[in-house]
Amino acid sequence: MFTSIATAARPAPDAVFVYGYFGNGKDANGGLDSMTRAALEKAGFLTAATAALKRREATGEAAAIIEIFGGKDGTTRGLLVGLGEKDKFISSSLRTIIAAVGRRLAAIHAAAVHVCLSGSTGAAKADVFESGNAVGEGLGLLGWVCTEFRGSATPATKHHKLTISGDDESMIEGVDRGLALAYSANFARTLSQTPPNVATPEWMADQAAKMAKKAGLSFRVMKGSELVKERLEGLINVGKASENKPCMVRLEYTPKGGSKSKKPMVLIGKTMTYDSGGLSLKINNGMVGMKRDKDGGCAVLGAMHAIATVIKPRVRVVALLAIAENSVSDNAYRPDDVLRYRNNVTVEVTNTDAEGRLVLADALCWACEKENPSGIIDLATLTGGVVVALGSTFCGMFCEDDTLRSKVEAASAVAGERVWRLPMHAEYREMMKSPIADIVNSNPNRKASPIQGAAFLSYFVPEGVPWCHLDIAGVHAVEKTTGPFIEGPTGWGVRLLAELLAAE
Ligand code: BES
Ligand code: MN
Ligand code: ZN
Repeated sequence: MFTSIATAARPAPDAVFVYGYFGNGKDANGGLDSMTRAALEKAGFLTAATAALKRREATGEAAAIIEIFGGKDGTTRGLLVGLGEKDKFISSSLRTIIAAVGRRLAAIHAAAVHVCLSGSTGAAKADVFESGNAVGEGLGLLGWVCTEFRGSATPATKHHKLTISGDDESMIEGVDRGLALAYSANFARTLSQTPPNVATPEWMADQAAKMAKKAGLSFRVMKGSELVKERLEGLINVGKASENKPCMVRLEYTPKGGSKSKKPMVLIGKTMTYDSGGLSLKINNGMVGMKRDKDGGCAVLGAMHAIATVIKPRVRVVALLAIAENSVSDNAYRPDDVLRYRNNVTVEVTNTDAEGRLVLADALCWACEKENPSGIIDLATLTGGVVVALGSTFCGMFCEDDTLRSKVEAASAVAGERVWRLPMHAEYREMMKSPIADIVNSNPNRKASPIQGAAFLSYFVPEGVPWCHLDIAGVHAVEKTTGPFIEGPTGWGVRLLAELLAAE
């Protein structure tokens, strides 16, 4: 793939030209809009393109590519990429389409690409800057490589630089934004990929500190006696069994030149560096992959990076990462233990594998008590149930506040990170009642498990505080190549949160 990707004002002499055409409207122009036709003519590709579009494979199906040659002496490479049906095309479609182009570019060792897509995006009435943003994101996400954990037994793969130019200035500005957002998402993906023998809670806090320093965010970590002093009960108990001690990280972004409102948006991430299940140990290989139980926190860190370096919103943003390792030892917290939180809600532990909600409860209490939030969004790989329900296509969303929910949905549409609302009801909250304490952390009836998680968390957010819980257990990683992603972490939520703050 690519070592680095950057934009350039002019096409390099060896640039591969990329044009788009639509699948429908297959008239004499073969799906080409007039602007693209003119661009093809100017660059000396029109004859080759017209002939190519008569081929049977020229269906215009999204992301299908045909190679042509043109230019002055007929040796310049061009790619005609299908954009799907014109009336269904949106700028977001380009994320996946350009990823296919990027894979082809990598395969032919192209060092430069000249994107001539402004004509077709314009013809489909898509915003040119937004289209450029999707192109930048698609290529940037595709370019993610993490070879840190390879050794001498894997031959090194060659990577090279890619330069992107384009036929429209506003599109290239969009590409720059998209590349920067992808960079933030890739930061989250590399953290996710880091194995649990390296990525301990302390290591995660160090990464947060380094990023904060570079990006100009304030940083604070609470650990050891400070957790006790601040009564962060969930972290203390869930993290007890591990030699790698738990902590809470707080980051803050303050806009230059003052904030639009006094209240900050608070982003919370479940950051379980490993989830063995604790004494309610995971069985049948259910533990494999649980290094990714920190992906809520990784996404929040990536989003804070994007907020500080790209978005720079006019509102304050606070991030809270509840970081622990859920392990086993004679000192482990147990089923039957009762925890008393700082908001005085007591929890009977029924299952030590429902640990995420226990540490999130600390962060929610803290946010509501100390931060005076305008809204709270938490991201957590909380339940296997949400994977069963929605797969990797939609994130499970719980949000009873109409205003915050519409903000999340709008950002979701722009980022192409899909959310699906799941219900909340007094009956679910009732289901969490304990015969001994106030509530249990899991009802053994196993009904509606993602909703149980959300219902549990709701006991730590007072009425009236806008709050959105995103259960990302299905979407934080993919099992096979999907759009711009290869098998592994997706950095889900980084771009959604960034877009949400961009609109504030
Ligand atoms: N981290 C897991 C959820 C998970 C499962 C994430 C699969 C990604 C893939 C979480 O801590 C967990 O163990 N949840 C339990 C809760 C149950 C014990 C109430 C679950 O969903 O099975
Ligand atoms: Mn668990
Ligand atoms: Zn977990």
